[in-house]
Amino acid sequence: MAEEAAAVHIGRIAKQWGKKRGSLIMMLHAIQDQRGYVPRDAALELARQVDVPLARIYEVLTFYNYFKTSSPGKAVVSVCTGTACHLKGAPDILAALGEELGVADGEASEDGNFHLQSVRCVGCCGLAPVVTVNATVYGKVKPAEMRGIIGQWQDRIDAGEL
Ligand code: FES
Repeated sequence: MAEEAAAVHIGRIAKQWGKKRGSLIMMLHAIQDQRGYVPRDAALELARQVDVPLARIYEVLTFYNYFKTSSPGKAVVSVCTGTACHLKGAPDILAALGEELGVADGEASEDGNFHLQSVRCVGCCGLAPVVTVNATVYGKVKPAEMRGIIGQWQDRIDAGEL
């Protein structure tokens, strides 16, 4: 399920940027905007979808300091703040997550387990408001549900799954 979601995101990015000049950098930016970094599975999927050698992708990733290839937190929590999500309450979702995690937008928790960030449209506007945790998509979320979602991921972290 998580891998399918990642492939869908990358498919959308590849479709949007695939044929444009300088598109590899733009696609990597889009992945990092969504995921907080460029994980190896995303680089592999991008290589497959746009038919660029993985080595070329890593040349770009390592050349630009901007790109991160490791996670800023074990669970990267992204709140979509695109127009549809904003109108359906994204600011309240972001506030609830900030309170739950004790961090501001763009910060990682002290234990390094969670990284909270706002992102632009992740392409699931029909599910607004949308939160993603790593590659898992949560749609039509409510602020009161954030504690439960974070709790599930904390359990996975405690179990050593991440
Ligand atoms: S605006 Fe949030 S998914 Fe499109």
